[in-house]
Amino acid sequence: MQIRINGSSITVDAPEDMPLLWVLRDLLNLTGTKYGCGMGACGSCTVLLDGEPVRSCITVLADVQDKEILTIEGLSKDNSHPVQQSWLELQVPQCGYCQSGQILSAVALLNETSDPDDEEINAAMSDVLCRCGTYPRIRKAIKHAAKTLRKGEET
Ligand code: FES
Ligand code: FES
Repeated sequence: MQIRINGSSITVDAPEDMPLLWVLRDLLNLTGTKYGCGMGACGSCTVLLDGEPVRSCITVLADVQDKEILTIEGLSKDNSHPVQQSWLELQVPQCGYCQSGQILSAVALLNETSDPDDEEINAAMSDVLCRCGTYPRIRKAIKHAAKTLRKGEET
């Protein structure tokens, strides 16, 4: 089957009911997307599908046909995306396991809302679980990235 991922079109040899997470990690070696619960509950496997966050452990290959998949590897080649830069600047991660899902969820939020308040951030982010409790830094980093993105739009 042909899929579009991180700006390229590729062929994968896998059954249509294979979870996207398996395709990413086991077939394409895109291991930045993490396996947490495997049942749609934790958000560590979040990727963007046509810009919307989806849980790749419960999204099967058939669901992604004709859609653009974005994984953490496709966000930038050199960690230069404003959300990644903000994460680095504010030292958001602890163990890091949940952070690909956090970053991609933040990107989806900022694509929709240029200046999210705490409530909007909590609504978009609270179901991506972080056992290390990095939520306060995530909130700060999203606001910081939002500012950078708005400045970029002005120039
Ligand atoms: S691994 Fe997919 S939601 Fe937890
Ligand atoms: S940084 Fe450790 S689970 Fe989130």
